[in-house]
Amino acid sequence: MDAKRAAESAIIMTELVLPNDTNLFNNLMGGRLMYWMDIAAALAAQKHCNMPVVTASVDNISFESPIKLGNVVHIEAKVSRAFTTSMEVHLRIWGEDLAKRVKYKSNEAYYTFVALDENNKPTAVPGFVAETDEEKALFEGALRRRQLRLILGGKMKPDDAKELKALFIKD
Ligand SMILES: CC(C)(COP(=O)(O)OP(=O)(O)OC[C@H]1O[C@@H](n2cnc3c(N)ncnc32)[C@H](O)[C@@H]1OP(=O)(O)O)[C@@H](O)C(=O)NCCC(=O)NCCS
Repeated sequence: MDAKRAAESAIIMTELVLPNDTNLFNNLMGGRLMYWMDIAAALAAQKHCNMPVVTASVDNISFESPIKLGNVVHIEAKVSRAFTTSMEVHLRIWGEDLAKRVKYKSNEAYYTFVALDENNKPTAVPGFVAETDEEKALFEGALRRRQLRLILGGKMKPDDAKELKALFIKD
């Protein structure tokens, strides 16, 4: 399988916040946003591997600014690193008030997907090439984020997380 460039997986999803998408404060509901984010991120992962994928985990999401009823939601999703059968996808979410001509950052998150074969078993994905400075920085951090999520998911022993530990323990 040929390695693929980060840019090849890029997705931009655009939605309009309608009354049925909002909470009691007329802001976009977190659950609705996470649903759209899951779809955008899955599409980015599928563009990278050209195979069906499942969501393996979602890292913590903090909602920095609410997106108002009638505003536009822009979801940017791009693979930040591919491992063996899994891919980390980085998402950035913006709100936009078209009447006021204001675009504002809402939140950021990382989703992890696993590619499945015809027997629904994890299967190898293509290699990944980061090109821009931002893609390279996201690629570097992905190893530590993966170690943290595998520890929290009970799939890795903290002692094995060399790169993550190095952040806290200096020789
Ligand atoms: C995700 C899933 C396919 C992993 O299957 P598994 O049998 O645990 O497979 P493995 O232990 O061999 O791991 C396969 C890959 O998943 C990754 N993975 C497993 N659990 C993970 C987690 N909690 N977070 C991130 N990655 C995870 C592993 O690191 C591995 O990646 P790698 O091959 O790149 O190293 C399986 O747990 C599953 O099907 N979960 C349900 C997915 C789903 O239904 N999602 C929709 C929401 S309910």
